[in-house]
Amino acid sequence: MKDIITLGIESSCDETSVAVVRNGREVLSNVINTQIAIHTQFGGVVPEIASRKHIENISDVTKEALKQANITFSDVDVIACTYGPGLVGALLVGVSYAKALSYAINKPLVGTNHIKGHIAANYITNLKLEPPFICLIISGGHTHLVHIKDYQNFEILGKTRDDAIGEAFDKVARVIGLGYPGGPKVDKLAKEGIANITLPKTRFENLDFSFSGIKTAVINLHHKDPNINKADLCASFEKTVTEELLDNTIEAAKKLNITKIALAGGVSANSYIRKSFDKLTEQGYEVYYPELKLCTDNAAMIAGAGYYEFINGKTSDLSLNAVPNLKLE
Ligand SMILES: Nc1ncnc2c1ncn2[C@@H]1O[C@H](COP(=O)(O)OP(=O)(O)OP(=O)(O)O)[C@@H](O)[C@H]1O
Ligand SMILES: [Mg+2]
Repeated sequence: MKDIITLGIESSCDETSVAVVRNGREVLSNVINTQIAIHTQFGGVVPEIASRKHIENISDVTKEALKQANITFSDVDVIACTYGPGLVGALLVGVSYAKALSYAINKPLVGTNHIKGHIAANYITNLKLEPPFICLIISGGHTHLVHIKDYQNFEILGKTRDDAIGEAFDKVARVIGLGYPGGPKVDKLAKEGIANITLPKTRFENLDFSFSGIKTAVINLHHKDPNINKADLCASFEKTVTEELLDNTIEAAKKLNITKIALAGGVSANSYIRKSFDKLTEQGYEVYYPELKLCTDNAAMIAGAGYYEFINGKTSDLSLNAVPNLKLE
């Protein structure tokens, strides 16, 4: 079969990224222009600034991605762009650019779901991984436990009823003064602490999650005692949320009789969560996650997800629009 070269375009939040991927799994380039330094001044992503920066950067990032992959537009077989979920203004930049490019170079276009992209990051790092498996998507905006039935069919088994886990990490970091983005900072500080503080763990009758209770408990503890040991607080927070993730994931795996588990999304970069899930291999599970660079937003994962849509006959026309609250199923 002829190789398929996908040009992936990602602009759903604060990363402008363009990648070139061969056959959905082999990354030829993955250029990521992150705006973190700009948004740090404001303590979080400012949507209007994110959109403007995407406009300024997208053309140069694309040129760089082609250059690093040593290809030209004529070598591209399909363009995959994120059309949701995400910030509407940010998404519109990538979608408009991808549509214009598709028209100009006369190549097909595939609108791609950002969360399917996070899942597909696993296919790039783990070349032997094939569905079916269970994927725990833990990111800045989502906490989903999903049955990946095949490359196209997904069933959500459980999801957060309030905050996404990444939001909880970021909020905890902000309240205790670690700054933005909080996840990596909590990860680092927790390594110096002991998980000796009891925090509330949520358990529902189904496989849903909740993180607002634990977030509030951490905030209250810090307000009551601003001198509380922050490293211990971070370690305790990580331990409690990881138990919640593990409980639901194991229950889902047992129910479906599936032993393959993959993690995806920015929070799957967390070292404690990875270490804890790794222990499941002692119980006979196979555990997968993307390499660190592919956990947070990038266009290689979008090219990967777009490739599987494309080979299954799905393309988009030039009426493609941004869908900020796009669903997975
Ligand atoms: N090492 C880490 N430990 C914990 N959290 C982390 C770590 N690294 C990144 N994160 C968190 O990951 C989140 C960003 O992930 P991602 O880029 O997937 O989210 P997003 O694109 O903003 O949201 P979504 O993908 O749901 O639309 C942030 O909340 C960040 O704090
Ligand atoms: Mg993301």
